[in-house]
Order: sequence, then C-alpha cells, then structure tokens
Amino acid sequence: MTPTLPAPVPLGELSFDPPLYLAPMEGVTDRTFRHMILQKNGGSAVGAACTEFQRVSQVPLPLEVLEKELGPKVEPIPVGIQLMGNQPEIVAATAIRAAEAGADFVDLNFGCPAPRVFQHCAGSALLAAPSQLEAMVRATVDASPIPVTAKIRAGVEHDQNLEELAQRIEQAGAQLLTIHARLRIDRYQDDPNWDYIRRVKAAVKIPVFGNGNAFHPDSIQRMFQTTNCDGVMIGRGAMRDPLLFRRWSAQQQGQKFEGWTRQELAEWLTEYHQRMLDGGTLPRHALGRVKQAVKALVEGGWLAKDQLRIALQQSNVEQLFSALGLV
Ligand SMILES: Cc1cc2nc3c(=O)[nH]c(=O)nc-3n(C[C@H](O)[C@H](O)[C@H](O)COP(=O)(O)O)c2cc1C
Repeated sequence: MTPTLPAPVPLGELSFDPPLYLAPMEGVTDRTFRHMILQKNGGSAVGAACTEFQRVSQVPLPLEVLEKELGPKVEPIPVGIQLMGNQPEIVAATAIRAAEAGADFVDLNFGCPAPRVFQHCAGSALLAAPSQLEAMVRATVDASPIPVTAKIRAGVEHDQNLEELAQRIEQAGAQLLTIHARLRIDRYQDDPNWDYIRRVKAAVKIPVFGNGNAFHPDSIQRMFQTTNCDGVMIGRGAMRDPLLFRRWSAQQQGQKFEGWTRQELAEWLTEYHQRMLDGGTLPRHALGRVKQAVKALVEGGWLAKDQLRIALQQSNVEQLFSALGLV
C-alpha cells in the first residue's frame, strides 16, 4: 500500500511543502551546498531550508553578511536565516535585516552544544534559562516582519523542562518549532530519543518538526508515524545521500528511485567543487569540503570505506577522484 503524503505545513503565507526541511549545518550548508540540494532534489521534494547559524553578539549583523549568506533564490522554496545570540534586542534588530536581505523566515538557534557558544549563554545554554529564552523569542517576533521559528534540543542535562520550553516558545509567538531529539550533553552521540518529538508535538499547537538521525526514506517515515510530527528536518542524511528528499518523495508515491551510480557521484562532486570555486571559495577550502562530502558518502554506503583513507590523503581533487575510481 502506498503511504499517504504528509500535509504541507503553513508558516504565515508560506508553505513547507512537502514538510521536509534541510537542516542548518555550520561548515556544510553554505549557499553552494544548500543551492545544490534544493536544485537537484527540486521544489517538489524539499519543502524548506535554512542557513547555517549566524552568530549575533555585540551589534546587529550587517545586511551584506546576511545577503551573502542567503544568496539568490534558486527555487521557490522558503529559506530562512538562522540567528544565534543572547541579547534579545540585538537579535531582534538582526531579524529585521534578515527580512531586508530576502529571508523568508528567521529561525532562532537554541540547540548549539559548542562549548564556546555555551559559555556565552547562547545556543543550547538558553534551554536552562526558559524565561530568557522566551524573552528572546518574544523580542524577535515583535520586531520581525517575517515569521519566526525556533530550533531546540530537549534540554541541557535533563528533559524536565521540555514541555515548558516548547510552550513558552509558542506563547512568545514563534510559528514553528523544530526539536533535535537529544540533550545538549548527548552532543551527536548515541541514538536520539524520538519520544522528545512526540512530547513536544503533544504540548503545543504550532507545527512541530522532528530532527535526529532521519537518514533514510524509511526512517523519515518512521519519524512521522511514531512521533506524530508535522514535518521532518534532515541534516546529515542530506550529506550522506544528497538526493534523499527525492528518494523519500518517490517512495511515498510508490515509484522506484535508483541509487547513485559512480558516474552520478562523480558528477555531483565535480559540480559541487566547481560551484565552490566559481563562488570564490579558496581551492584548499573547496578541497576540504569535497573530502567532507566524500566521507559522508562513505557513511551513506555509496562509496567504499577502504578507499577513503587514501582518498583523504590527496592534495587535489583530480587525484582524489582518481583514488576513488571516479574518473
Ligand atoms: C556539521 C554540523 C553543523 C551543524 N550546525 C548547526 C547549525 O548551524 N545550526 C543548528 O541549529 N544546528 C546545527 N547542527 C545540528 C543539525 O541541524 C541537526 O540538528 C543534527 O545534525 C541532527 O540532525 P541529523 O541527524 O538529521 O543530522 C549541525 C550539525 C552538524 C553535523
């Protein structure tokens, strides 16, 4: 039996349709990667995307920084700018600029576990300060001409405030909430606890996106079914299988969607590399990103593990492709 397609998720006048959302990933989802994912999966398979986090500290971020991060609109898909800071009025002022830069929505990061961020009381640190977190959401919502969404983990060291956090975010006016189903102390280890997603969904009326280890069409489907979430956010799954969104969509419609051929992998990596260079990325940084992409494709099972070590030792892409047998 063909499973029924989950309903599109409205966000103000926007729609996340289908409700699959490319996660923000610092050092990965820059505009080159994001644009490739959106264009190659197509507007009917990815419903939304977001920039990697933009750290807001002493002053609002300049418009040019936000414009550069966002880049031009390549597909008619809502794209948000994610902000992370600890001073509500400065984050709120940056949200106004994000709208000017062309963002469709602003996402507030309350999940980043990095120690430097945590020490500055930003990212996941605010999970332990629910009233500060609420004030941040409220100030941003009050100022922002575009919808405001939030992304949380289930807590810092425990999940006892989870429902309270979700409800405060809703009451402060956020229109959509994503929950990465881990605590801060879990970082990225161990299996996520999808029950956190189910609990958040049951606690609020705004749409809830679940996140954490949705790596395959089957696990995306399982997350929908077991948590009752409205949508699924996909992070590392999109690195491991950059066409995961289309693969899921095809599966939903009972269609066959082949795996990656070596030729397709080579084309994907070559185009990714070329687009980075065209966009002004330094060659050594572009090479680093290609290696990161190769490593993820190995994790996804599309490239053999035993070639990885040799491939990662190469000092240019031609040698790297040759070591992987992709030329
Ligand atoms: C390399 C990397 C960078 C990340 N950067 C961000 C970020 O900028 N903002 C954010 O909210 N989450 C960030 N995350 C967390 C992801 O958005 C996501 O919550 C997490 O990877 C779990 O989802 P997944 O299992 O689908 O990857 C990052 C994760 C990774 C692996």
